[in-house]
Amino acid sequence: MSEFATRGSHLDLKLHAAQRAMELVEPGMTLGLGSGSTATIWIRLLGEQVRDHGLRIRAIASSEDSERLGKSYGIPFINFEECRSLDLTIDGADEVAPKLMLIKGGGGKLLREKIVASASKRFVVVADESKQVQKLGRFPLPVEVIPMAAPLVDGALRELGFTPAVRVNQDGSKYITDQGNFILDCSGMLIEDPYAMARELDSMVGVVEHGLFLDMASMALIAMEHEVVERTT
Ligand code: 5RP
Repeated sequence: MSEFATRGSHLDLKLHAAQRAMELVEPGMTLGLGSGSTATIWIRLLGEQVRDHGLRIRAIASSEDSERLGKSYGIPFINFEECRSLDLTIDGADEVAPKLMLIKGGGGKLLREKIVASASKRFVVVADESKQVQKLGRFPLPVEVIPMAAPLVDGALRELGFTPAVRVNQDGSKYITDQGNFILDCSGMLIEDPYAMARELDSMVGVVEHGLFLDMASMALIAMEHEVVERTT
């Protein structure tokens, strides 16, 4: 049994999704490691295989936290100079809508997560059933912005109908991403047309990246109470 035990049904579901994701891993693969609590459970399971059973894989992480965790198990890390394409990335999501349209970035790692996912032949989402939605937007959409441009982007997001809020840490200081940027969490409306919204956000000067992940995931492993359901597009 894994040394990594979970408590409480929510964590149990995340563990079940992560365990299913382990079945997709093959020796010799180059893997993308996601971020957040579900991805963290998967990284621990992967790390145990590397440390205790000699599984040979290489990895690129979507956050400094995930890389640190992976290194603690002896997972070897590479970069995109050494490898331009990943076999498989496993990551969590904040919302999973039909056609595997996602909101990600609740943990603030959306930029690197999108880079890693975009370089992956297979991008598989691990989540518990609470993440499933019919329409994206109940979870505030994270938008990473260059600090200087934050007030300008804030205004442009309000014109689109959002209520943006600068993400802050528990001590009230501004949350700073791994790249040194701010995050505006955009609440206030459901996103009727995610593709049109993504185009709007992509065209905003000062926006580095946003948390709409469209046409990226090939599968979602959704943990329900009694089973893990495989959702494809
Ligand atoms: C981090 C993310 C996470 O994958 C997302 O927030 C889901 O996290 P969790 O598995 O803890 O619910 O996008 O930026």
